[in-house]
Amino acid sequence: MGPPRAILLPALLLILIISFVFFLQSFDSADFSSSSTVLSATKDDTVDLKSTAHQEALAKHALNSSLGFGEIVYISMPDRTDRQDAMTLLASFFGIKLKLIPGVRGSEISPKAMPDGVYRTTRPSELGCWRAHVNAWRYLLDSDMDTLLIFEDDLDWNTNLKKTMETLSLQMQNSQIRLSEPSDYERANAPYGLDWDVLDIGSCKDSGHPDFKDVSQIWNDPDVPDIRVTKRNKLMYNSLHDFGLTDADIGKKRLLAPAYLTVCTSAYAITRQGAERLLMAMSYIGFRNAVDTDMSRAFREGRVRGYMLTPPAISQFRIGGSKDTDNRDPGDPRMGSTINGHGNLHGFSANLKGSARKWMVDNLNLNNWEDYKRIRQEKLAEVTEESSLPARG
Ligand SMILES: *[C@@H]1O[C@H](CO)[C@@H](O)[C@H](O)[C@H]1NC(C)=O
Repeated sequence: MGPPRAILLPALLLILIISFVFFLQSFDSADFSSSSTVLSATKDDTVDLKSTAHQEALAKHALNSSLGFGEIVYISMPDRTDRQDAMTLLASFFGIKLKLIPGVRGSEISPKAMPDGVYRTTRPSELGCWRAHVNAWRYLLDSDMDTLLIFEDDLDWNTNLKKTMETLSLQMQNSQIRLSEPSDYERANAPYGLDWDVLDIGSCKDSGHPDFKDVSQIWNDPDVPDIRVTKRNKLMYNSLHDFGLTDADIGKKRLLAPAYLTVCTSAYAITRQGAERLLMAMSYIGFRNAVDTDMSRAFREGRVRGYMLTPPAISQFRIGGSKDTDNRDPGDPRMGSTINGHGNLHGFSANLKGSARKWMVDNLNLNNWEDYKRIRQEKLAEVTEESSLPARG
């Protein structure tokens, strides 16, 4: 005979309650244990985000194939395969990876897709150029990356570019000109911080805001161009003076300041917020005449926050003639001849110490048969030395 019902029912209830409590606890403890792993991960983490060791390790990301940015893209008209050849060569030689964003012809833009406010004097090629830059900004927003470095297709840089960027990273991690303290996320992940919309590392000329000449970060950099080079660029030279640099400093120091007046969009990085602001300022609201002058205007009017590096790390490479610009339309008298007769070899670049392009030419230079001759002679000399040893045994 089983136990009486009077006992069975409360017993069953008790079992139910007990198992329910255990059930809840198992949830709780699972929860607790997972949160404790998260906690212990941060607790055990001996990495002090403010330590020099961590900052130096993060700055080393500037040496990677995207120079410490999410990716590097470059804009080139699909038919400028000559420039693409050059950029691929340069990138390969310097250990960086470039992704092509095709340039756009002004005539490809539908009249309905034209932004508001375009000046009557704006050339179709300038509109095409603008369109390609806008496509690059969208490329960042469509990705998961924090930053994107955007190049045009006619660049040169100083031969120590990666070192320049590593130093820039350390400076920006210890920036005295930020408006806010870096977040833990920035300290952990962003070699150049994320407190900017645009980081211009390839301005042709620039000048700072007249009211904020005291806002700058200045450091020694052995890879800045000689003062004679900088003096050829009046605006840049005067700007450095305005920021308090003397002739003795120019040629030894690099300067980072809030972007105000900039010329060229040869090489600049953007953050996600930067891509949003640029899309807002230069598409959603409207566009006037050229991507670089419109961007500079947005800096001056304070609608986009940028930093500019002076002297720049990256510059345009000029080879002369109409090959130098895709910003003129066929029939424009400024087109000139397309042929310069010596390929890229006689080209030059401003604002740099040394030239990555020239260095590359020298380094890839080979005299194969001279090498054979030399090595064979050395081998022959070894053999005669050996045979002249006294015979053993
Ligand atoms: C280079 O470093 C940046 C910053 O940490 C990172 O976002 C990017 O993915 C790295 N690039 C490569 C190719 O590893």
